[in-house]
Amino acid sequence: MKAKSDKKNTKKYNICVVGAGHVGLVAAACFAKLGHAVSCVDSDLRRIKALKNNKMPFYEPDLECLVKKGVKEKNLSFLTSLVEGVRKAQVIFIAVGTPPQKDGSADLSSVENVAQVIAGNLNSYKLIISKSTVPVQTGKKIKETISRYKKSSQNFEVASNPEFLREGKAIYDFFYPDRIVIGVESSTAEHILRDIYSKVDAPIIVTDVNTAELIKHASNSFLATKISFINAVSRICDLAGADISKITQAMGMDKRIGRDFLNAGIGYGGFCFPKDLEAFSYISKKLGYDFDLLKEVKNINEGQRKNFVEKVKERLWIIKNKKIAVLGLAFKPDTDDMRFAPSVDIINFFLKEGAHLTLYDPQAKPEAVKLFSAKGGSASGGKAGRLKFSKGPYEAIKGSDCLCLLTEWGEFKKLNLEKVKRIMRYPLIADGRNFFDKNKVCSLGFEYIGMGMQSDGQSSNTKK
Ligand code: UGA
Repeated sequence: MKAKSDKKNTKKYNICVVGAGHVGLVAAACFAKLGHAVSCVDSDLRRIKALKNNKMPFYEPDLECLVKKGVKEKNLSFLTSLVEGVRKAQVIFIAVGTPPQKDGSADLSSVENVAQVIAGNLNSYKLIISKSTVPVQTGKKIKETISRYKKSSQNFEVASNPEFLREGKAIYDFFYPDRIVIGVESSTAEHILRDIYSKVDAPIIVTDVNTAELIKHASNSFLATKISFINAVSRICDLAGADISKITQAMGMDKRIGRDFLNAGIGYGGFCFPKDLEAFSYISKKLGYDFDLLKEVKNINEGQRKNFVEKVKERLWIIKNKKIAVLGLAFKPDTDDMRFAPSVDIINFFLKEGAHLTLYDPQAKPEAVKLFSAKGGSASGGKAGRLKFSKGPYEAIKGSDCLCLLTEWGEFKKLNLEKVKRIMRYPLIADGRNFFDKNKVCSLGFEYIGMGMQSDGQSSNTKK
């Protein structure tokens, strides 16, 4: 961790992080590492029990080590009692879930519940900070709720400190952020938040609460827009015969554009972009602005999955009884998260068409098994008999008519492609992430399907 040059001792704060999900647990472990006394509260008894036994509720590189260290050094503890957590804390970070509702709006009932508990347990001054991604004006609502229900004359303040961490790189992102955003109403709140982060070397942007909340929604929506934009360009590449990889290389060299988030493929998934886009559209409309651009971003994203399966279908002709190997299930590498993963729609499509699928993912198998479980798992549509999981990539690939790469896990770079070709029934690679080196796989005799990769035409050098 980069230390700041001034060697001031950081004040140790009693922090309560409410919610032991991805944002909450990572923040709790990282605040403990910064030297604060942190209690992390979750109403899920099993989750807290597991955490007390050093069992992480999800896969995140380096998290287990950080949690163990925090607990050992007595900077980190886990509680199920929100009342206890609130009463002993000076600073409370709300990191509970804000899941999407049917109409696209964020369900803020868990946030309201925390505000109510705080109102009933305001035994000293408290700074209440929202870390969950919430629509603009949520801080205002939290403040109103606490003011309405509080039972003491103690003061409190509400702030916003949105989290920008990425799953799979969450610990790194916490300690090396591009910026820290704090939305506050007073210099006291600003001072406390600056103190809490004083050992993290990053620019701090201080705003009002509404602005901080908007920064988060706008950032995620912009990144999703960037992905959909390049995916739309990749469609034109397919139609016109051009190479998206060169286009992104050239566009990315323009500093005003930047190379990040310009990877074309089967599109974005996960629990953040899809839900945040919906929630941002919803709140914009509620405030009086129709954010139509975001609707198109979503349409393009969903179209990419359809586009991918159409490409495969075109090559395989009849999907029924074809054997398809799927490598990568998680919505991106280095996570076991399957929420809104593009793989789910793609697998369901192949199942519906009667294919036999063998799936492999280095981390997401348990999540995928739950999702596609034989007992009518929502994603399986009851067709789980034609769905198998394999322990390794080669087992999945053996005897297949098509290898679909849906998540670009690093370990797939190490695949022995000669062996892959030997054990496939037909050497067709459908690369949903433009992950393989197209020239290399084609020179080895594979047929290659990419996303906007020009030579989507059949390779002449296929298996005899
Ligand atoms: C995202 C943001 O990047 C974080 O800054 C934010 O804190 C987080 O949401 C959140 O709101 O909690 P995350 O969902 O973990 O993080 O994943 P990303 O790394 O942003 O990737 C999102 C999706 O976009 C993945 O499915 C990924 O495969 C896809 N993607 C990403 C592309 O299709 N192309 C790209 O060029 C980049």
